[in-house]
Amino acid sequence: MAVVPYKDTPDDKKSQVAHMFNSIAGKYDFLNHFLSAGVDIYWRKKAIDLVARNKPQLILDIATGTGDFAIEAMRLKPRKVVGVDISEGMLAVGREKLQKKQLSHVIELKTGDSENLEFEANQFDAVMAAFGVRNFENLEKGLAEMYRVLKPGGQVVILEFSKPKAFPFKQGYNFYFKHILPVFGKLISKDRAAYTYLPESVQAFPDGPDFTTILTQVGFKFTAWHPLTFGISSIYVGTK
Ligand SMILES: C[S@@+](CC[C@H](N)C(=O)[O-])C[C@H]1O[C@@H](n2cnc3c(N)ncnc32)[C@H](O)[C@@H]1O
Repeated sequence: MAVVPYKDTPDDKKSQVAHMFNSIAGKYDFLNHFLSAGVDIYWRKKAIDLVARNKPQLILDIATGTGDFAIEAMRLKPRKVVGVDISEGMLAVGREKLQKKQLSHVIELKTGDSENLEFEANQFDAVMAAFGVRNFENLEKGLAEMYRVLKPGGQVVILEFSKPKAFPFKQGYNFYFKHILPVFGKLISKDRAAYTYLPESVQAFPDGPDFTTILTQVGFKFTAWHPLTFGISSIYVGTK
């Protein structure tokens, strides 16, 4: 059974996820930095560092949300970054941020479903996603789409939550993630389910070698796993 945000509604996961992110969009950036004590900023930096060597010029940021990963990619001095998301609310916050930062001419945010991308095959030098793939309704379909639009030789970089395995980080993290984060998340975002869905969806999501195996099955070569901060998050890379 798929892990969904609102268990008492019959809607499919995609509609529920879009609804959830529309509902929390205004508080998303604040909660991200507050609940991770700012470590999410460092994680995105590390992920961008891993594609820097290839100097990608045309980059696709899947599940771009409010655009933080796309903005971080500006350090690579790309010609263009396209961000795609199913949540209009998240994109609206992102567009406002881009305008303030005067980045709207390089970063374009578009409405779109990662599992059904509007782009032609073999276009992008790099395709990336931060905290997005866990929310896909069909993970393999979304990853296959990322593979399709990537140029041969291009790199994929995926940042996602994972599960720490070692004592005592595992125990401390589980306590924080299941008992503290949902309380603050609900209080600040006012969404009844978003920050309960977060730990539940991480728990059910494949991580480490299980995730690189899926990347390989989709077609990516030279896949690698880089755990971050005791395994709380991970970066996965692969090449087409
Ligand atoms: C946790 S946010 C991550 C946003 C951003 N990448 C970041 O690093 O902060 C996850 C985003 O994935 C988007 N999303 C989920 N499923 C999607 C899909 N099938 N296609 C496009 N975006 C999707 C959600 O709307 C949401 O904005």
